[in-house]
Parts: sequence; C-alpha cells; structure tokens
Amino acid sequence: MTTAIKIGIVTVSDRASAGIYQDEGGPAIKAYLDQALASIWTPLARIIPDDRAVIARTLIDLADEEGCCLIVTTGGTGPAPRDVTPEATEDVIEKPMPGFGELMRQVSLAKVPTAILSRQTAGIRGRCLIVNLPGRPRAIAECLDAVMPAIPYCIDLIEGPYLETDPAVIVAFRPGQKPKG
Ligand code: MTE
Repeated sequence: MTTAIKIGIVTVSDRASAGIYQDEGGPAIKAYLDQALASIWTPLARIIPDDRAVIARTLIDLADEEGCCLIVTTGGTGPAPRDVTPEATEDVIEKPMPGFGELMRQVSLAKVPTAILSRQTAGIRGRCLIVNLPGRPRAIAECLDAVMPAIPYCIDLIEGPYLETDPAVIVAFRPGQKPKG
C-alpha cells in the first residue's frame, strides 16, 4: 500500500482569515507544488489569524491527525507585534531545521533588502516537516525554489512518503542517487 501524500498549506493572516482580503499566499503555494511535484498529493488548506495558540493547534492537527508529511505556512514571520508564526512553529516542533530559514533569507536577500526581516524557520514534528514562508505571494516561489530540492530527501529521512518532483521544474537531490531527468 502506498501512503497518501498530504500537504498542509497554512495561510497565517488576520485580514485574510477575516475575509478583509482574499488569500493569495495559499493558492500560490498550491500552484507551486502542483507544478513542482510529480507525485499525486492532496492539499489541506487552512486560513487562520495571527494567533500563536491557533497556529500551533492547526500545525498539530495537520501533522498528527491529518498525517501531513509537509506543512508550508505563509505569513506572520516578520517583526510586527502580531507576527508569531515562527514562535508557534517552535512551540510544536521537536527538531529545529535552521538551514531552511538561513537559505531562504540568503536567496531572498538577492531580491529584496528587507529579506532579513523574515524570521522564517522550519522543523520536524514526528513524520512531518514544517516550513515557514513570508507572507508576500512573490516570496513563495523565491523561497520554495531554494529549499524544494532538499525537501523530498528530508521527508525520506523522517520516514514519510516518497515525494517525486518533476525534474523539468525542480530536481530533488537524494544523496547516492543519480538525479532523474
Ligand atoms: N522574502 C522574499 N523572498 N521576498 C519578499 O518580498 N519580503 C520581506 C521578508 N522576506 C520578502 C521576503 C519582508 S518585507 C518582510 S516584512 C518579511 O519577509 C516578513 O514577512 P511576513 O511577516 O509577511 O511573513
């Protein structure tokens, strides 16, 4: 039996969750993964306010109850008073994965000087990798292009499902394996 691949997409925004504006980040993540992944996968999308406890509960639900192997969040990573996505992520992860935030800030800095304002982080909860992205829709592809090559192997290592990418879009790097394509 193959394990179903479920991926959580969490938009963290007071205004999008209140319907004041339309969520653009969640659909941008889904569109990115639709073209980058060759495996069949199911998105589980949530739009929630910038509330530390609500974010933490949502991440726990998607990881533990829904069985997502990957959760990508967008928004709430900056320095503003309501920005608490990294804190909520740290509340629920068992292992921090600081390389994700380091790399995303580094590549983002080539695009915008304000990239250093994002405190985006990542970590492992059980068999789930949680990755924070900034809230700007254009940051989504900029950041995912950088970290996506390492995500399938990270999910292998935490004993999640085998994620295949479309090598014409993103080549997944698995040490000891010849890249496909
Ligand atoms: N990273 C990329 N790749 N592109 C961007 O436009 N915006 C920055 C930064 N990182 C940005 C980026 C800005 S202006 C801010 S304030 C922080 O992300 C935090 O954004 P957030 O609070 O919406 O998560």
